[in-house]
Formats: sequence, structure tokens, C-alpha cells
Amino acid sequence: MKFSKSGLGMVAFGAAALAALTAAGAAQAAGPAAGDAARGKTVFARCAACHDLNTGAVRMGPSLKGIIGRKAGSVANFGYSAAMKGKGVVWNPDTLNQFLTGPMKYVPGTRMAFAGLSNAQERADVIAYLKQAAK
Ligand code: HEC
Repeated sequence: MKFSKSGLGMVAFGAAALAALTAAGAAQAAGPAAGDAARGKTVFARCAACHDLNTGAVRMGPSLKGIIGRKAGSVANFGYSAAMKGKGVVWNPDTLNQFLTGPMKYVPGTRMAFAGLSNAQERADVIAYLKQAAK
């Protein structure tokens, strides 16, 4: 077996540089104005038929209790699609924003029969509301 000493060094350096770039990019990602939880409550009316916020009750969809920081597809009393169970993300403002933009695009095969919120401000608002109220 042959090793290239210089090659190994470059890989390590490259990985560190990439991590730094990724962090900078995430911090800079341009988004809509900060979400407004009060407006988000109104937006959530469109989710409420299917989602409980904080009792843990199952409706058409799983309860969103503690959704921020929760692993996708992880509520024990809900029968998720294989797609949602296998998604392997943790819900945070960024992943929620991507999911709510286009549920079927972000989680192909999801059973969430909802077209999505095309308005970025509405997404930011409903996420702000979830942060505040879904505990
Ligand atoms: C018609 C019913 C319905 C509507 C309306 C709906 N959802 Fe859902 N939602 C579901 C179902 C069903 C699932 C489970 C999907 C799966 O297993 O693929 C789900 C899953 C989710 C998940 C992932 C939960 C988890 O435990 O991983 C989030 C987050 C979510 N919905 C948020 C919302 C928000 C926010 C809205 C409103 C903007 C909304 N949903 C509107 C039915 C709905």
C-alpha cells in the first residue's frame, strides 16, 4: 500500500476550509424579515385541523408539541409514512422552512396532504409561532 503524505494534509485542510465556508454561508443566508408569532398564529389556523400544538393529541397528523429540536417522524403514537420516518432531519427553523415551502418536494412520499406555504413571510411567521407555542 502506498500513502501520499502531502495528499493527506491537503484533505484535512480542505475539510476545515469547507466547514468554515459552510458556517459562513448559513449565517448569511438571506431570509424574510424576522417571523412574527402573532401573525403566525393566524397562519397556523391552516394547520390546526391536522396538528395539535401542545397536548400531544393525534389528529390527521402528529402533534407538533416540542417540534423545534424534534427528529422528523419520531412521535411514537403516530403512523408516519416511510418517507418521513426515513428523512433523518431534526426540525429547526431552517428544515421547517424547507419542508413548509414544498412538503412533497422536501419529503417525497410524505402523507402530509398540504401544498405548502409559498409566501416566505408566512413561513417565517408560522415558524416563530411554533417556537413560541408548540411546547
Ligand atoms: C391535511 C392535514 C395536514 C395539514 C393541513 C398540515 N399537515 Fe403537517 N402533517 C400532516 C401529516 C399526515 C403528517 C405526517 C406526514 C408523514 O408521515 O409523511 C404531517 C407532518 C408534519 C410535520 C412533521 C412532523 C414530525 O413529527 O416529523 C410538520 C413539522 C408539519 N406537518 C407541520 C405542518 C404545518 C406547520 C402546517 C400548516 C402550515 C401543516 N403541517 C399542515 C398533515 C397535515
